[in-house]
Amino acid sequence: MTTRVLTGITTTGTPHLGNYAGAIRPAIQASTQPEVDAFFFLADYHALIKCDDPRRIARSRLEIAATWIAAGLDVEKVTFYRQSDIPEIPELCWMLTCVTAKGLMNRAHAYKASVDQNVAKNIEPDDGINMGLFSYPILMAADILMFNAHKVPVGRDQIQHLEMTRDIAQRFNHLYGQGKDFFVMPEAQIDDEVATLPGLDGRKMSKSYDNTIPLFEGGQKALRSAVMRIVTDSRLPGEPKDAESSHLYALYRAFSTADEAMQFRQELEGGLGWGDAKNRLCSRIEQDLAPMRERYADLMAAPDRIEEILQAGAHKARRLSSGFMAQLRDAVGLHAIKSVADADRSVASKKTAGKRARFISFRDAAAQFRFRLLGADGQELLLSEPFSDPKAAGVAIKHLQSQALSTLSFEQAGIATVSIDDVVICRFEAEKILEIQKAIESLIQD
Ligand code: TRP
Repeated sequence: MTTRVLTGITTTGTPHLGNYAGAIRPAIQASTQPEVDAFFFLADYHALIKCDDPRRIARSRLEIAATWIAAGLDVEKVTFYRQSDIPEIPELCWMLTCVTAKGLMNRAHAYKASVDQNVAKNIEPDDGINMGLFSYPILMAADILMFNAHKVPVGRDQIQHLEMTRDIAQRFNHLYGQGKDFFVMPEAQIDDEVATLPGLDGRKMSKSYDNTIPLFEGGQKALRSAVMRIVTDSRLPGEPKDAESSHLYALYRAFSTADEAMQFRQELEGGLGWGDAKNRLCSRIEQDLAPMRERYADLMAAPDRIEEILQAGAHKARRLSSGFMAQLRDAVGLHAIKSVADADRSVASKKTAGKRARFISFRDAAAQFRFRLLGADGQELLLSEPFSDPKAAGVAIKHLQSQALSTLSFEQAGIATVSIDDVVICRFEAEKILEIQKAIESLIQD
């Protein structure tokens, strides 16, 4: 069984070394497993919640897309797309919004934290909070449920959003599923093995602490200058260093093999100077990043190529989302007006609305009695021969319904006929046999 793994990357910042080791590298690695069907997307609708600077949004989308591709994402194997290229996502978001209790959103951590801050400052609880922030978890649920992901690799801060996604999915299934579940229940995937990189000052590497090491931006020079600013203790060259408590060593470990790390550790304990240690760290990181940085530069110089990759990804994603959305629209009652009568009938018989074939009787221009078989989509599948009295036409319909096409014969190449006592009741193109058979069977089951 393949597992569908899906995750979103909010497009506000520029990726740093911590993003690479903590999210990008493990995600790309996981996506190479044969039984994994990975969906990675740029959560650019989510970015609008936090950022109203169009240039920053556009730049971040470009940089993040280029980073993932340069880091080795196989865009043929995975589905890599922009959230904003999939119109079915906001459409589903609205359907989910309409089944989500407001009280559930009141409990979301991100929203509550903003309210708490306002209250602490003695201002309006909802000051500065937009509806995007309030409904953030519903958009995220739509991202996940649109593609029925099983596993969602995220940080711990997102666990609550996955719980909410399951809540919302269950509610939709219950209201509209009629015994069939539209959505699978997704699980958060928290990887404890994954490195959380310390930043220059030893706290978690994060843009908000201003302690990051750039990934590609600024080239080797920027990497080196950041590494040189890593805070160390004041032990001099020759004095033994405590590797375990040094975040320089933690950074080295995130880019090296176990053997390399052990050797580095021994050298530190043997008195390697911090300056030399920084040089060693630099070249170890550089060994991994240099080829990627080159690809990154090439991609940044060819944004059309990135656009093309993302469009192809959107096309791939929409092959799933557009068909699924048609089913969901149908389920909530947003189908074509012409099938309302069918819908009523089928709701009465606890069937899903819409999709039913039917026989229609009528008198033709010569005042003869005939009938048609229409498919679920209303297309004519079969036209009967003329009958002089309505009873004979009725018998013919009954015959088709009870025997399906078991009495079929072929009178000439490509034309099939059904007869009662050697009298042909209908003729049709042989290539339509399967479709007709299916339509009649669907009637028999009713
Ligand atoms: N909220 C996620 C974060 O901040 C980003 C995100 C948006 C996401 N939609 C998603 C993650 C869907 C996983 C699945 O990290």
